[in-house]
Formats: sequence, structure tokens, C-alpha cells
Amino acid sequence: MRKALRPRAGLMSPWLLAALLLIAAPAYCEAPAKGMKPAAAKTAAAHPPGTAIASAHSLSTQAGLEIVRQGGNAFDAAIAVSAALSVVEPISSGIGGGGFFLLHDAKTGRDVFLDARETAPAAATPAAYLDDKGELNRDRATNGPWSAGIPGLPAALAHLAQKYGKLPLKTSLAPAIRIAREGFQVYPRLEKGYGSRREVMERYRGTREVFLADGNPPKAGEILKQPDLARTLELLAAKGFDGFYRGDVGAKLLAAVKEEGGQWTPEELSGYKVVEREPLRLKYRGWDIVTAPPPSSGGVAFAEILQMLEGWDLAKLDPAHRTHILAEAMRRAYRDRTIYLGDPDFVKIPLRRLTSADYAAGLRATIHPDKATPSDLLPGQPAPLEDDETTHFSIIDAQGNRVSATQTVNLLYGSGMVAPGTGVLLNNEMDDFALRPGTPNAFGVMGFAANAPEPGKRMLSSMTPSFMESKDKVIALGAPGGSRIITQVLLAVLAYDAGLAPQQVAAQPRIHHQWMPDVISAEAGALDADTVAKLQAMGHKVNAGESTWGNLQTVMWDKAAGTLSGGTDPRNPVGQADVLLTP
Ligand code: DON
Repeated sequence: MRKALRPRAGLMSPWLLAALLLIAAPAYCEAPAKGMKPAAAKTAAAHPPGTAIASAHSLSTQAGLEIVRQGGNAFDAAIAVSAALSVVEPISSGIGGGGFFLLHDAKTGRDVFLDARETAPAAATPAAYLDDKGELNRDRATNGPWSAGIPGLPAALAHLAQKYGKLPLKTSLAPAIRIAREGFQVYPRLEKGYGSRREVMERYRGTREVFLADGNPPKAGEILKQPDLARTLELLAAKGFDGFYRGDVGAKLLAAVKEEGGQWTPEELSGYKVVEREPLRLKYRGWDIVTAPPPSSGGVAFAEILQMLEGWDLAKLDPAHRTHILAEAMRRAYRDRTIYLGDPDFVKIPLRRLTSADYAAGLRATIHPDKATPSDLLPGQPAPLEDDETTHFSIIDAQGNRVSATQTVNLLYGSGMVAPGTGVLLNNEMDDFALRPGTPNAFGVMGFAANAPEPGKRMLSSMTPSFMESKDKVIALGAPGGSRIITQVLLAVLAYDAGLAPQQVAAQPRIHHQWMPDVISAEAGALDADTVAKLQAMGHKVNAGESTWGNLQTVMWDKAAGTLSGGTDPRNPVGQADVLLTP
């Protein structure tokens, strides 16, 4: 295979490729650079010259920097950013949801994957999600109390403060509490998302109290205040874990779920535990990559795709063959995701096989140099797309600590249900389980036994918070976007490898293949007409010019240059990457 392709190589140099990516990038750059301030120290040093934070809203980025100014480290800043995102981006994530925090502790050199994924309540059996015809009850799977898993994010914030932070939780949560109480300006994405979930959200008393407080849905430009959420955050700040999972807030969450016909037990709520897992590690062309293990599917897919790609010098391929090879590698990895992956505490995952170079070499050998493999010729079953809610942030601080965190309530505004009196919007993460084997979920992704719901089990995720490190560079990166998270982060790894800067990495046009549907999706500007025609001639179906997706947030410490810089996805006009230099 490799030999067959090599003669085609040489049509494009890495520099030409980088230049093309740069030319394509301005298509997304209508918004200002949003505070992307690469900042340099005068000499290369063992430590970064300050702290860099990239997140999906300027208020959350600034909340993190405020905590650093008060003496906080990256982990304290992560608490501030995460909680502020919970307040200003209820559409994407929140303390009623969950997430993954990839941490690097500079003092010990240790990387930790903090798993704050939601868990299934015992009542959430597969049968509970079927209608009387035995079909998946989509309303139950995605709306209201049955769609919600036991939240994990508040436990993660308490754990971060207790084990990794320098400041009390109270201090790190203060900016989020202030923003919840004083309010923030509604932006178009929030208003639009509300419109698309309005019918569901307005079913619930608690949701109406927050989002229809003045009788009307949130409108861009208005100030949205969330006093109940401020109080819940204050209780979390004062009492840690117990402030959310027990006492007044816990009781209100249980009562709300019950009132709306769901079933959570007090033991399930107070028994929630974050799990510290060993991250997945792999090497790609001189980069050490540290990334998400199960119950995320991201790292495993990464390991498969990147190791398959090692067979080619991508920079030397013409755009059509580069896209072909990428799509073929993606197709194969996503097939394995569907079949094998789930919560490692419940299912036996053939991790050693799926992540081994030999296995990847076997898969690579099945890739035809210029012919698409129809997905239905690979064993398994079909699975289409996810969308782009959720949120990611990346931090590197002056000590070299790092955080790469992706957090979510799953679909826009999660379950749509706020527990009255708490301001907590519950997630609808249960839909990430294979509630009915082989039936696609809201995004068209499906699964089988490995990802069936069981009491206390975590639903499979695509969230892939990651680090990459070379001799000269340390990078934190990640993105939302459902099943497109993995390919977004993968393309970012390839772009960094091609020498792009963080803002260019965040802006570059995207392509995606996820096995089923058997199609290459491409953003406008990602593939030109000639490339599309060549891919079609190889047997690919191509959806060129799809509307954009994703919201990548990344920061980089260039050790050789002694600089810190950030990239925030220009597809989201309210994101911000910013750097605070150590005085
Ligand atoms: O964990 C996951 O993979 C999903 N719940 C993430 C959802 C997401 O990114 C929403 N965007 N489409």
C-alpha cells in the first residue's frame, strides 16, 4: 500500500500545505481574533512565561485569569473556567452535567484523567426507554428526567480544589457565583439554541423560572441572571461535594426528578464518585500524545487513526489522496468504537489490541491506495452524525501545570429540565448509551452490549481532551462536537505537526468520516471541486460545503521561543484565548 501511494507523493510540500490551510482559514475569521495574544518572554525558560487560557466565552477565560491573579494555579483556574462556563453556556455544559479533565501536574510530572462522566441511575434499564412497540422512546431518551444521568461536574470541581488547587473552592468559584448573580449578556447562539429546544424546556416549572423569568425567552443582548444557580454554587463553595449531592440542593434535585416522573435514589446521588484514570498515551511522528481513555472513545480512535496514518507522509500527498487516507483511517476506527467501547468498569475492552501498532498495521493494509472501502463491507452496523454542543477549555500555567477539559450536558440545554430552586439544568447524557442495541441515538450514533445502560455505569463519550508534547512544544487541546470531536482534535494534531500556530489550528477547515453514514463530510472551503471529483472517482461519497462544526480551544507553550499563545475557534464569536504574563 505504502509503496503504491508514494509515487503520488511530492505534489505538495508541507509548506504549501500549511500555506493552503492559512489561505483557507480566513473564511472563518470574520470575527476579531478575540484576544489571541501570543506573548513572549525574552529568553527560553524551563517554565512558561505566564498563564494561557482558551475557552468558549470571554467571561470564562477572564474568570480563570482572575483566579491566577489571586495566586491560583491551572487547576484553580480550571475550576473558575468550568463553573463560569456552566453559568454562561447552559446550552453546552453545566453543573447538572459531566465532563473529563485531563491534568498535568508539573511538580510530580504526572498526568491524570479525571473522569466526571455522569452515571446511570438503577431505574434506567433498557426496557425503560422502549415504547409499547418496542421502539426507542426518543422523548424519554433526550428530554426530561429519564434522559439525565447523575451529574459529575460538581464532584470534579470539589475534587480539583481538594487535591490539586492552591486556593479554597470558595475563592475559585467566586467569579462564577458573581456572574450567575449579576447576569451576563445573552448571545445569539444561546437565543437560537433556546428556540430549538423551547417546546421541551417550557414543559418544566424550574426551567421556566430561569429562562422565562420576565415572561419571554432569552434574547441576544439581554442580561440573564441566575440567582438560584448562584446560591447552588455558593453551597458547593461552602460545603464542597455535600453542598451539591446532599442537603438542600440534593433534596431539591431528587424532588424535581420525582415530580417529573423520574427515579433517582438519594444513595445514587450522594454515592457519585469521580474516577482518576490513567490517560492513554501514544506517539506520533515525534509527538508524545496524552489523551482520553474509556469511557471516552476518543483516545482509542486516536491511537488507531494516528497509527494507521504513520504509513504515509501526509504532507507529501495531494489533497484528494490525503483526504482519502484520512477518511479510510477514520472509517475503520469509528467502526471499532461502535462495536467494542463502553465503560471500562463494566465491560472488557480489548484495549491492548485496539491500541497496538500491529493492529493498526493490519487495518492499514486493508486501505486501498485510491479506492474507497464501502463501510458496509466492514463488519458491524451503521451509525451517522453528532452535532456541536458541549464545551472545551485549555490552560497552561506559569509552573507548567496543564488542564485540558471537555464538559457537557449533551444536547442543547441538556434535558431541558431545571430542578426548581436550584438553577441546575440537568443533562440528557443517557442518550449516549446504546439504549436500544443498534438503534442510533439523537445524533445517529449507536452501539451494542458494551455501551448498554447498567446501574452506575458511565455512558460512552467522544470527548477527547488531549495534550501533545515535542522537544520544543507543549500543547493542550480539545473540542465539542459529538462524534466529530475525535476527528476535530485529530486534524488539530496533524495541523500542529505541519507547523501551524494555535489560532490557525483552531480556524482550519474540517473534514470528517465516521464509518456510518458512509460519507466524507467537509466544511465549506475544506475541499476544492477538483479534490471532490477525485475523491468521488475513488468511490467516496462527499458532502462538501456542509455548515461548519466544532469549537476548538487550544493553548501552546513554545519552549524554544519562550512564548505562550492560544487559539480559539473563530466559528464561535464569543470565545477567547488570552495570556497573562508573569510580572
Ligand atoms: O460525550 C459525548 O460524546 C457527547 N455527549 C458530547 C456531546 C456533544 O459534543 C454535543 N455536540 N454535539
